[in-house]
Amino acid sequence: MSLMRIGVLTGGGDCPGLNPAIRGVVYRALDFGDEILGIQEGWRGLVKGEAKVLELKDVEEIISSGGTILGTSRTNPYKKPADLEAVKRNFKTLKLDALIAIGGEDTLGVASKLSKEGFPAVGVPKTMDNDLSETDFTFGFDSAVSISVDALERLRDTAKSHRRVFVFEVMGRHAGWVALYTAIAGGADAVLLPEEPVDLPKLMARVKAAHDRKKYALVVASEGAELPAESGAKQEEKLDAFGHMILGKRGVGERLAAIIERELKLETRYAVVGHIQRGGSPTVFDRILGSRVGAKAVELIHEGKFGQMACLHGDRIEGAPLYKATGTLKVVGKEWLELSKSFFK
Ligand code: F6P
Repeated sequence: MSLMRIGVLTGGGDCPGLNPAIRGVVYRALDFGDEILGIQEGWRGLVKGEAKVLELKDVEEIISSGGTILGTSRTNPYKKPADLEAVKRNFKTLKLDALIAIGGEDTLGVASKLSKEGFPAVGVPKTMDNDLSETDFTFGFDSAVSISVDALERLRDTAKSHRRVFVFEVMGRHAGWVALYTAIAGGADAVLLPEEPVDLPKLMARVKAAHDRKKYALVVASEGAELPAESGAKQEEKLDAFGHMILGKRGVGERLAAIIERELKLETRYAVVGHIQRGGSPTVFDRILGSRVGAKAVELIHEGKFGQMACLHGDRIEGAPLYKATGTLKVVGKEWLELSKSFFK
C-alpha cells in the first residue's frame, strides 16, 4: 500500500526543465512510498480523468529531455462550470490525496483557486518568461535565454558580414527578462522591453551610432514591447483560454526592422526565435532547479502545506503561498532598467 496517491500535471507552455521536475516528483515520492499518477495534458487531463501511474522506469531517463512526457494544454477549467465540476469529480474518481500542478501563472492560478476551495494542491513554478513572483528564478528561463543568446551570436556573424542591422525578437510575454538577459549576455546594442516605453528617436540614434562605429548593429526586442502606434501596428486580437493575447502575432520584430530601414536607410533584417526557445535539452541549471522544486513539492504535501509553491530563495528551496506567487507578475524593475542603461550605449 502506498502512503499517498499524488497526481502531477504540467500545464501552459512547455519549457526545458519540465521533465526533470516530473522526475524530481517521482524520485522524492518513492522515498515516501507514494504512488504518482501522471495526469495527461494539463488541466484537460483532469477534466477528462486521463492519468497513468508513473514509475521509476518512466522517468529515470528523462533528465535531459525537453518538453513534457505528460503533455500539456492551456485548458482553463474555471472557464466552464462543467469542466470545473469534472475536475472536482475526477479528483475523487482518481482517488487523489493531493495534486502537484507544474506551471506558470495560469496553471498555478487554477491550483491556487482549487486549494482555496479545499483541494489539497501544491505548485511547482515553471516558465521561460521568468515572471512568477515569490521565486528567484523559474526553470525554463535559463535554457530559453541560452538558446536565444546562441541565436543572437549567429545573427551577429551575418550582420557583421553584410554590414546590416538585425532585429531579434524573443518571447517573454509581458515581462522583459528573456529580452534583457539575451541582450546583455549576447552583447546587443539596444533592447526593447515591455516595461519601458519605446523612445524611437533615441533608439534610432543608438542604432546609427553602433552602425557608424562597427558597420552593424543588433537590437533585441521583446515580443511584448509596445511600439508607438503611428508606426503601423498590426494588432492580433486572438486570445488564449486564459485571456492572453498571442503576442508573437503582433510582429514587433518585423515592424521595428521596417521602421529602422525607413528611418536610417540601413539594410535591416529581423529574426524571430519563437518556440525554438521552448524546445531542446534543459541546461544544467534548469535540470537541477527542476529536480529540486519537483522534490520539494512532494515534501510540501507531506508537511500538509497545501496552497504553497516550491520556490527558489537564494540557494534554498522553500514554500511560498500560491496566491502570492500568482497575484502579481514579476516584471523587470527599476534597478535593472537603470543598470541596463550602462550596457546599451
Ligand atoms: O509563456 C510562455 C510563452 O512562450 C510566452 O513567452 C509566449 O508569449 C507564449 O508562451 C506563446 O504561447 P503559445 O505557445 O500558446 O503560442
